[in-house]
Amino acid sequence: MESAQMVERRFACNEGDLAPGESMTVPVEGPGTVAVAVYLTEEGAYFATADTCTHEDWSLGEDSDLEGNEIVCPLHMARFDIRSGEALCFPATIALATFEVVVDAGKVYVLG
Ligand code: FES
Repeated sequence: MESAQMVERRFACNEGDLAPGESMTVPVEGPGTVAVAVYLTEEGAYFATADTCTHEDWSLGEDSDLEGNEIVCPLHMARFDIRSGEALCFPATIALATFEVVVDAGKVYVLG
């Protein structure tokens, strides 16, 4: 028997709110949801992770450097892969939570 776990589609931002290579923090509404960082890569792909760096308390959506599929936290230079959330270098050792992103009719949604 299949699991009946519900996956909600939650509005994050409009297409065009982000330019390629940019990120932003969005307050995605929903039970148990924390702030989410949404990224648009130079190649035009959207990704989303938990907003707070897993090393200390820093908003990656508000202030980080997006380099390809990696973000660099400017506070202590930890790097994360935005596709998997994997922490790629010290001082971060814990992965970021990731969220699937869907773009539909000019609107960007985070699944979770
Ligand atoms: S808070 Fe991000 S690397 Fe330290």
